[in-house]
Amino acid sequence: MIAPPRDVTEENRTLVTWYHRVKRDLPWRAEPLPYRVWISEIMLQQTRVDQMLGYYERFMNRFPDVVSLAAAPVDDVLKNWEGLGYYSRARNLHQTAKHIVHQLGGRFPETYATLLPLKGIGPYTAAAISSICFGEQKGVVDGNVIRVAARFLGIEKDVTKPDVKAEIQVWADALAGGGNPGDVNQALMELGATVCTPREPVCDRCPLKPGCIARRNNMTGRLPFKPKKAKVPHKTELALLYFPKDGGSVWMEQRPPEGFLGGLWKFPTAAVETRDAAGTILEKLAPGRLSGLEPVVKHAYSHFKISVYPVLLHGVTPALEAGCWVPIADLDTLALDKVHRRIADRLRHG
Ligand code: ADE
Repeated sequence: MIAPPRDVTEENRTLVTWYHRVKRDLPWRAEPLPYRVWISEIMLQQTRVDQMLGYYERFMNRFPDVVSLAAAPVDDVLKNWEGLGYYSRARNLHQTAKHIVHQLGGRFPETYATLLPLKGIGPYTAAAISSICFGEQKGVVDGNVIRVAARFLGIEKDVTKPDVKAEIQVWADALAGGGNPGDVNQALMELGATVCTPREPVCDRCPLKPGCIARRNNMTGRLPFKPKKAKVPHKTELALLYFPKDGGSVWMEQRPPEGFLGGLWKFPTAAVETRDAAGTILEKLAPGRLSGLEPVVKHAYSHFKISVYPVLLHGVTPALEAGCWVPIADLDTLALDKVHRRIADRLRHG
């Protein structure tokens, strides 16, 4: 059972006043156009504001509006998303931009209900765009807001459970319903990002301090409660760097358009059980040609960790159907994930 909304008039006023006093000067805030807010919110789902600003400026310079995004080749969109990760988000942005331009006559949907069916726009993004740009009274619930709510309301239950999230949504909707929904939502997100932080919250600077249950009961350290995540699997791969006899190029292949890292380029890879198991595979691929394993490149994705050992294979033509020779000088123009970009950078810049 979800409790009915409580009277949050006072918290609404407090948050709006606080937000007007401390809000950061962010590029999409002066004139919150839906296209700009949309891009910023999708980027902020995975990256902190200070880290995403450079990506945001670069993306906006290249695709200043929905028409330019819709007209771009997907490879160009992926290239301008490089480094942000979660590449399906970039592909969804691109598809939705095309949908808005070609099916909706270029008009951005303005309500929560009409934004929600768009690819890549979930309840969080639909609430953010509709409240910030069009004043819809819909609460935004992201990780920051969940933390603020769990502490302020003293929720000790597992916040990853849908019913607990629904309880927090009721609170956020009630707050947004008190007026200035865009400001209230941004205040909550800003509060979570800058004051009510995961570790060592700065409660003395918090406008909600007087009514905060976690603060009163000394529980900020253990709220919000989330069960421990299962350990993620670890994979080991070889990245096979094939060079033609005369050097200068390297063999590259493009991942399938959908799925994990879809549409990005990569060196051919081979999964191995362990680093030591590599020798057998390499003897098969390029007998006698192995010039050694380069230092390992490690990366943690959201659902697995990976160690990739680059292998240099000189004068070997790969027995692969897909792919092409790419001049090493052109590697910068392709969209690569973090691991393969690090390997490419070593080739380019030593
Ligand atoms: N995090 C995600 N979206 C945000 C926003 N609009 N303002 C502040 N922090 C955010």
